[in-house]
Amino acid sequence: MNDTQLTSPFGLSGKTAAVTGASRGIGLGIALGLVRAGANVVALQRGPLAPELAAAAQERGVTADAVALDLEKEESVAAAISDTLRDHRIDILVNNAGTQIRHDATDFPLTDFDRVMGINARAVFQLCQGFGTPMVERGHGKIINLASLLTFQGGVRVPAYAASKGAVAQLTKALCNEWAPRGVNVNAVAPGYIATDMNEALLADAQRNEQISARIPAARWGTGGDLAGAVVFLASAAADYVHGVVLPVDGGWLAR
Ligand SMILES: NC(=O)c1ccc[n+]([C@@H]2O[C@H](COP(=O)([O-])OP(=O)(O)OC[C@H]3O[C@@H](n4cnc5c(N)ncnc54)[C@H](OP(=O)(O)O)[C@@H]3O)[C@@H](O)[C@H]2O)c1
Repeated sequence: MNDTQLTSPFGLSGKTAAVTGASRGIGLGIALGLVRAGANVVALQRGPLAPELAAAAQERGVTADAVALDLEKEESVAAAISDTLRDHRIDILVNNAGTQIRHDATDFPLTDFDRVMGINARAVFQLCQGFGTPMVERGHGKIINLASLLTFQGGVRVPAYAASKGAVAQLTKALCNEWAPRGVNVNAVAPGYIATDMNEALLADAQRNEQISARIPAARWGTGGDLAGAVVFLASAAADYVHGVVLPVDGGWLAR
């Protein structure tokens, strides 16, 4: 065991995490968890810093900053990476932000397919490359990507989303194979059904909501905060020998 594993296996004091999409939902829950574990956070997102995140950082005595990022634009992603790296050493990258578009596969516009793949897969690779390269050069870093149950299952009316989340898992494993020997851990978490804006339509459909809840062994939808512990673990020294996994955080859905 190294010193950090012995003295503070889950602590993140002195570390700085970049989190995409920390404005709301799962990303906000993860950013709050990282702050509470002692990390400084850079929120890469379209809007201003969430007030809850600013307050939590102040309370914990760490910093929280916002940097502008639009995942639909390659130049915005590139600028967000260089703007962040100019002011911060990034030890942890959480690729949380993502999007979902629903249509029957017969009618799925290719422009929407490209949009989902661009945000959920291509931009994730660009961010891994931009933040991962200095980590590889330093010989230390943690990258955590957001996969999905649709990394494992096909879903219905979301073919682009399922394809993009399959890509996230393969990207995670591909980067693990290149970067684990260079001291960088690349892993993913796969949330189950989490009550966020992304699932507004499912939550509003009483019958579908009931069917989903009945299949979850934990007997409830998850919250953004339910992902925080798994991400803090993967970002910490406790997970130094964990590489290339896709960790389900799904209330037991996949076990059913
Ligand atoms: N909710 C679930 O059940 C579930 C399950 C499995 C996986 N996931 C994954 O978990 C992650 C977070 O999901 P969520 O449920 O928290 O979603 P959400 O509530 O819809 O929030 C999406 C986040 O992504 C950001 N975002 C979307 N498009 C963006 C763009 N073009 N540029 C920059 N930011 C963008 C949003 O920013 P704005 O606030 O600016 O819109 C927001 O912060 C996603 O990768 C999702 O696929 C979610």
